Amino acid sequence: MILVTGGAGFIGANFVLEWLRVTGEPVVNLDKLTYAGNLANLASLKDDPRHVFVRGDIGDQALVERLLAEHRPRAVLNFAAESHVDRSIHGPGDFIQTNVVGTFRLLESVRGYWESLPAPEKDAFRFLHVSTDEVYGSLGPDDPAFSETTRYAPNSPYAASKAGSDHLARAWHHTYGLPVLTTNCSNNYGPFQFPEKLIPLVILNARAGKPLPVYGDGKNVRDWLYVADHCSAIREVLAKGRVGEVYNIGGNAEKQNIEVVTTLCELLDELAPRPAGRHADLITFVKDRPGHDRRYAIDATKVRRELGWSPAHRFEDALGETVKWYLANDAWVKGVQSGACGKWMDVNYAGRAA
Ligand code: NAD
Ligand code: TYD
Repeated sequence: MILVTGGAGFIGANFVLEWLRVTGEPVVNLDKLTYAGNLANLASLKDDPRHVFVRGDIGDQALVERLLAEHRPRAVLNFAAESHVDRSIHGPGDFIQTNVVGTFRLLESVRGYWESLPAPEKDAFRFLHVSTDEVYGSLGPDDPAFSETTRYAPNSPYAASKAGSDHLARAWHHTYGLPVLTTNCSNNYGPFQFPEKLIPLVILNARAGKPLPVYGDGKNVRDWLYVADHCSAIREVLAKGRVGEVYNIGGNAEKQNIEVVTTLCELLDELAPRPAGRHADLITFVKDRPGHDRRYAIDATKVRRELGWSPAHRFEDALGETVKWYLANDAWVKGVQSGACGKWMDVNYAGRAA
């Protein structure tokens, strides 16, 4: 079996669902259930004996050591993190605590377990650390895309905390020999994403006839990847990645934010027309994010060449599927919006008048 951390969040939940569907191998899922963790994401696994959910913190060494001893996983995949840039600007403390200190404690727990394994299990064991392209900083319009050798230059507290966790994972391999794999992925979208991130926020605000907040001039560029493609890349890296290596994962779909928002509005005009007018009428330019990175782009040559992975979904198609998912899953949306979401909207958007 494998142990996944953060498997009640957006990418972790998609990963667990797909993993069980594709491989059938049991999963222990350790998640603290912060505002971003949601058991409704895993509702379809309710009576599935292959999924063991444990509420807890990656930084709780006694708990993690107990889970490792009890379940003896052949791999640990670390998705758990504080993940939203704007929240890291309003309150960086939790990011340092989970992403840096939590990853350190998790690495220590896993190292102790791994060192105690008999030779065949020890050789086969893997620790896969899930990270982001944001550790590389911001690109100019004509710069080459981020490769695995691009210098780290994190700009937000979120990116700096993820960079710190990447360095720890690297050092635990280099110093102790822990069989670490690291993936640095571009922006994801798809089902179960908390509506603080651009794509679900725009879909749900548009549905409610609320303003669609676009930061700055809307020309910041992100490289978008459908979450199922990220999950398939992680499975490939886990199965065939070379120990100690980093793999950049991206969708080859660079878009300006305003293009993404406009495309979402067009999809919604088709799928859920608005009697009062076009959805694009709701677009509102608001005060920019401090230190807002201008452009991210991933060069995914290495993972394609070494592991044969490339994304299976086209941006326009998968974005349409994503819109349909949010329109069809009203109960999930209501559940998420009834929690911490409303307060965050006040914190982040009240001071950003158009
Ligand atoms: P998310 O915020 O949706 O989910 C994070 C999950 O981690 C939640 O379920 C939360 O409860 C859990 N968690 C937080 N702190 C914890 C702790 N101390 N112990 C145990 N569980 C804890 O995030 P996501 O978008 O699913 O991202 C998952 C991972 O992928 C993160 O490491 C993130 O940095 C990385 N990543 C995200 C993206 C993206 O576009 N969302 C892109 C590249 C990489
Ligand atoms: P986000 O989904 O928060 O991901 P990240 O900051 O990790 O890339 O934001 C994606 C882009 O959309 C980013 O350039 C910021 C921008 N953005 C807006 O313009 N308006 C918003 O309300 C949000 C949340 C993001």
